Amino acid sequence: MMEFINSLIYNLTEVHPIHTLMVHFPIALTSAALFFILLALVRRNDTLEQIAFANIALAAVSTLAAGLTGYMDNSSIYDGEAPNSAAKMVLAGVLFVTTTLIAIARWRQPGLFHSSMRFVYVGGYFASFALVAVLGFLGGVILYGFHEAPMASTEDAPGSVVYAQPLETPTLVAAPTETPLAGVSFSLDVLPILKSRCTNCHGGDKIEEDLDLTSYAAMMAGSKNGPVIIPGDAENSLMGKALIEREMPKRGPKLSPKDAQLIIDWINEGALDN
Ligand code: HEC
Repeated sequence: MMEFINSLIYNLTEVHPIHTLMVHFPIALTSAALFFILLALVRRNDTLEQIAFANIALAAVSTLAAGLTGYMDNSSIYDGEAPNSAAKMVLAGVLFVTTTLIAIARWRQPGLFHSSMRFVYVGGYFASFALVAVLGFLGGVILYGFHEAPMASTEDAPGSVVYAQPLETPTLVAAPTETPLAGVSFSLDVLPILKSRCTNCHGGDKIEEDLDLTSYAAMMAGSKNGPVIIPGDAENSLMGKALIEREMPKRGPKLSPKDAQLIIDWINEGALDN
């Protein structure tokens, strides 16, 4: 039980980005605010308008929280910048200002909904919703990428939908590629990837699973579970599996398909210290 609680705390505080959790608040509150203001218009009901006001005020507060956690996670989890981070910071800033202005204006002038400024007021709800929708979409790009629409194929059953694959083409082949170009080099190709993407958790102060990826010798010594590399057999190596199944790096963006494939090819070519 204690072990479970410890793992839970570890996962909540160190593994899961808090931003992903926080973003649902502005999305839900801004959407609810628009819903209630429209209902208030249709029903000519002041109570519904008050609910809309409460929602947009909370949306402003939660936008601030989502923005700050996004900024923090961006600097702690990513090497470099998360996709679209600059655009999202600008849009989040505009969303925060818009929702805050609506809330303050309505708070200072309780009769705003019945004033001549009514359309500007309701327009603000629409604008906030549009902003949060774009932000939510850009956030989704971190997880699922942005893909070209698949070409319509005559082989598909009529009316069938071809879904884009999540994550940029994770079609990593476990078998050796048919014409290994010049052969993958450990020191020139593999080690730089490990050093930039893996050794913050597998080396130095923190050595997850006792797997040290800072050098060839340390890596071949394996983890606390034994060897992680079976030369010539990426599919059955723990390291190959971790990359084929896209489990590593544990946090943040996975390796690009090209980098993952390089390491897989290197294992299949015999995992040489070359
Ligand atoms: C953010 C920390 C982190 C990063 C970065 C990371 N790992 Fe891991 N790795 C872990 C943790 C934690 C485990 C323990 C298993 C688990 O939680 O899935 C693990 C387990 C593994 C295992 C399985 C070891 C075993 O004995 O089961 C392999 C192989 C591995 N990592 C390879 C890599 C590679 C290759 C990279 C870089 C591409 C990488 N890891 C980057 C945290 C990380």
